[in-house]
Amino acid sequence: MDPISRRRIALAAPALLLAGCHAANAQPEGPISVPPLRQVAPFPVGACAMTGQFQDPTFVSTLVSNFSQITPEWEMKMEAILKNDGTFDFTRPDMVADFAAQHGMRLHGHTLVWYAQEMPAFKRIDGAGKPFADAYRNYILAVAGRYRGRVVSWDVVNEAINENGEGERDCIWSRNLGPDYAALAYRHAQEADPTVPLFLNDYFLDTLPNKRRSFLRMAERILKSGAPLSGLGTQTHVSIHMRPGAIKAAIKDLASLGLPIHLSELDVSTRNADGVKGRFDMTPMSERLQIQARVVGEAMEAFMSLPAHQRFAFTIWGVRDKDSWLRRPPNAGDGTDRPLLFDDDGHPKPAARALVEAVSRT
Ligand code: XIL
Repeated sequence: MDPISRRRIALAAPALLLAGCHAANAQPEGPISVPPLRQVAPFPVGACAMTGQFQDPTFVSTLVSNFSQITPEWEMKMEAILKNDGTFDFTRPDMVADFAAQHGMRLHGHTLVWYAQEMPAFKRIDGAGKPFADAYRNYILAVAGRYRGRVVSWDVVNEAINENGEGERDCIWSRNLGPDYAALAYRHAQEADPTVPLFLNDYFLDTLPNKRRSFLRMAERILKSGAPLSGLGTQTHVSIHMRPGAIKAAIKDLASLGLPIHLSELDVSTRNADGVKGRFDMTPMSERLQIQARVVGEAMEAFMSLPAHQRFAFTIWGVRDKDSWLRRPPNAGDGTDRPLLFDDDGHPKPAARALVEAVSRT
């Protein structure tokens, strides 16, 4: 080794040592103060919400002051609307829509067609041919029609790509209506609400490049058929073990079709990753929250790098850590996950600051 290299190592060593000490001794930060997110971002910043949370004043104040858009967490899904006898119950989705209107917030409809919801009213007519196709059209017309003028957009088809990223899912919709069930859904939604933007939404588009490819292929097929797909949603359910650069690469690829992008369900789990760092990862929570902030910062930077007309909205899957679906069964785990931008008391976390900094920087 030549003397110059030796000197470089000697100079680098104290810095590494310091970095190591810092990581080991990272202390919880004092209170963090950030401006309301909705005022900082030049595009809508969303959060999901449920009617049960509207009674909680801290939830409401944190939601309303920081976010400008709501995605119903589950009350606009088929399981909430379609009763077993085939009739519709709009009580709860109406409450979400009313809440959004009362607070001057935009409402993103979620979701009309989802493989995960094979409701009894459809199962009963599985294989029936025309009655199934009629019920499909009728459902989409009824729901999209009811919220015409009240939603700013819809996730029409949700999670259509196979878990392993290869090809499209086989589901009750594809089995009954053929591989073009999705294109059909976009046509029906447009019939009900002719001008509203209609999205295709999916997860792991960042962690699985092959899933992203299948997703883009599906989107192109829908577009080629002439169906009115008008935006792409990338859920972005990720964790602190996320490979740096993966979210950026995903957003860049997804933008290649020129459609508006909705970063639609961001959360960053702080839990240990099975098989990644092992069950005995002792990284302190204070450090996990800093890593989380870096992931959120990367997501926002990636979003900011899109041309303005492709930035549809940036949505977080919940408000406070304790509101997260990752803290409820079947995801509850050990109950310590802290995946969102606000802590259990509604105070901003390092991730909220990182989001604001990324918006201001770019
Ligand atoms: C989840 C909700 O957060 C849960 O409360 C519900 O029980 C199941 O669905 N992808 C989606 C969302 O598109 O609709 C899911 O929401 C999370 C994953």
